[in-house]
Amino acid sequence: MTPTANQIRRQYIDFFVKNYKHKEIPSASLIPENDPTVLFTTAGMHPLVPYLLGEPHPSGKRLVNAQKCVRTDDIDEVGDATHLTFFEMLGNWSLGDYFKEGAIKMSFELLTLPWEKGGFGLPARRLFVSCFEGDKDAPKDTESAEIWEKLGIPTDRIFFFPKKKNWWGPAGQTGPCGPDTEMFYDVLNDPDFAKHKPGFEGLNTKCDPSCDCGRYVEVWNDVFMQYNKNAEPSAGSGQAGFSPLKQQNVDTGLGFERLVGILSGKSSPFETELFEPVMEKIAKLSGTPDAGSPDYVRSSRIIADHLRAATFILGDPFGVSPSNIDQGYVVRRLIRRAIRHGKLVGINGFFTSEIARIFIPIYGEVYPELVKNSERIVSELSMEEERFSHTIERGLHELKKTVQGKAPESADAIDGKKAFYIFETYGFPLEMIVEELAKDGFKIPREQLIQIKKDFDESYKKHQELSRAGAEKKFSGGLADDSEKTTMHHTATHLLHQALRDVLGPHVAQKGSNVTKERLRFDFSHPSKMTPEQIKKVEEIVNEQIKRNLPVHYEMLTVEEAKAKGAIGLFEEKYAALGNQVKVYFIGPSAGSGQAVYSCEICGGPHIGNTGDLKHFKILKEEASSAGVRRIKAVVGGIK
Ligand code: ALA
Repeated sequence: MTPTANQIRRQYIDFFVKNYKHKEIPSASLIPENDPTVLFTTAGMHPLVPYLLGEPHPSGKRLVNAQKCVRTDDIDEVGDATHLTFFEMLGNWSLGDYFKEGAIKMSFELLTLPWEKGGFGLPARRLFVSCFEGDKDAPKDTESAEIWEKLGIPTDRIFFFPKKKNWWGPAGQTGPCGPDTEMFYDVLNDPDFAKHKPGFEGLNTKCDPSCDCGRYVEVWNDVFMQYNKNAEPSAGSGQAGFSPLKQQNVDTGLGFERLVGILSGKSSPFETELFEPVMEKIAKLSGTPDAGSPDYVRSSRIIADHLRAATFILGDPFGVSPSNIDQGYVVRRLIRRAIRHGKLVGINGFFTSEIARIFIPIYGEVYPELVKNSERIVSELSMEEERFSHTIERGLHELKKTVQGKAPESADAIDGKKAFYIFETYGFPLEMIVEELAKDGFKIPREQLIQIKKDFDESYKKHQELSRAGAEKKFSGGLADDSEKTTMHHTATHLLHQALRDVLGPHVAQKGSNVTKERLRFDFSHPSKMTPEQIKKVEEIVNEQIKRNLPVHYEMLTVEEAKAKGAIGLFEEKYAALGNQVKVYFIGPSAGSGQAVYSCEICGGPHIGNTGDLKHFKILKEEASSAGVRRIKAVVGGIK
């Protein structure tokens, strides 16, 4: 029997919940809350950074979940058998609880136990592992290797690699990190796999897991987080930039789509049930495709991958709309690139929302937000497709004009600035410009392409007024770095949220938050521009709470208790469904004073101890963020 994708996901979670006392936590939003260092959640550990740094988690010290992730660094690779922009990461965490031995034993057991006994039934003889080889920052991880050996993995299947492979660093530049041990599945010598993998005969029989011929599929990564990477070398530690964490953590990540592929004997996720109905639809829409041609395979995978990612981004609780900045830019790029490839495989007419409608039921049970937001997903896709169809012809014309008279081999067919102009005016993502030129025979040399990308990015940054954000990026870490100023801005965000509800009404709900030491940025639902009086009133209320020197504290509560106390917050339904406790931050006079608290919000923290420390609150800007969503930027501190 081949298990279904939903059964496989469940098997992972149940293994940890039932056998090892983990608590299942819901997937966090794809749009990171309070963290300016990345646009999207890129790993299961990302939303857990405050807890890896020592904040207590309301669900305890052993956690497990499936986390929605988006990574766009490899967007150009999508179309092959492995790369995806959206993916699910299955992970288990120990927050200062079990460490190397516990984690490795659990991983080994889950991978090798037969399915009926709660495992994935992979033969141990086909598992290879790698460990960290050691460098100036941390010693060779012989401990992990010995644990693997005791479990029966022979030494000739244990490899040591440098930091580049066996170290997990933070998503930003600073934060929790440490050596890791990776598990690989050897697809060679598998008669069933051979049936499914074209080019199987090309696999390298003599290589090790660092080879990318395709023989070794990396399935799982156990990270042993014991260091914090600081922005500056830590004084006297002898380890420039790395200091030991307060607690030793385990962070693991198992690529769900890959596992589904392995367990169902498919050589790419696109052939599994997660994508199959969509691949069929694409084939149908494109008429009679030459399904075996490499161009068709690549384009159809790009369409499927990008529209799945767009469906999840648009359907996120913090869902963003296509735009020319930040996450909106990414989702626009994904949608438009999918449309372009739709044209390449001969799809006529609008089709993106039809594809989304297939993905929604595939994932609806596990990610109910997609069902809840299905209308929004479908209408955003249709609107974007409509917008793009208006500009596409004009854009292509402009592009043709730009390269007119230039020889196909000329290195200066287009420069980054011009490419950016075409993007800004016609919404053509850079890779699409390059692809269009290639169709006309313009093969831009690699070095030239790097330069174009650089110039394009520079123009893009300017366009976004990212010079300030750039400085923030260097500072990095967001709340993850515990900086006092960032924490102050985070606490001010709670006061602002409540003050907005006081002034504008209870319809105000958080739609996004991005906190750095330079400023806070808060997106909230409200249908119209705020008047200057309303802005002033909100400022006054927040400043009043600052003057009151209100203490800040948190309590771990059940969702019912939190609701009874009037807590506001986003993920309560999901937490309630899992019967978990939530962490609720209170800002207000201490119990017993008889006075009501001012703010009560579900939140992971951290926060400062007393509002008086914020000194003064000032709104810098109130503007539209997207339809029905306003954005406020504000600062606190010794400003007047
Ligand atoms: N954070 C680790 C990864 O993403 C588990 O691979």
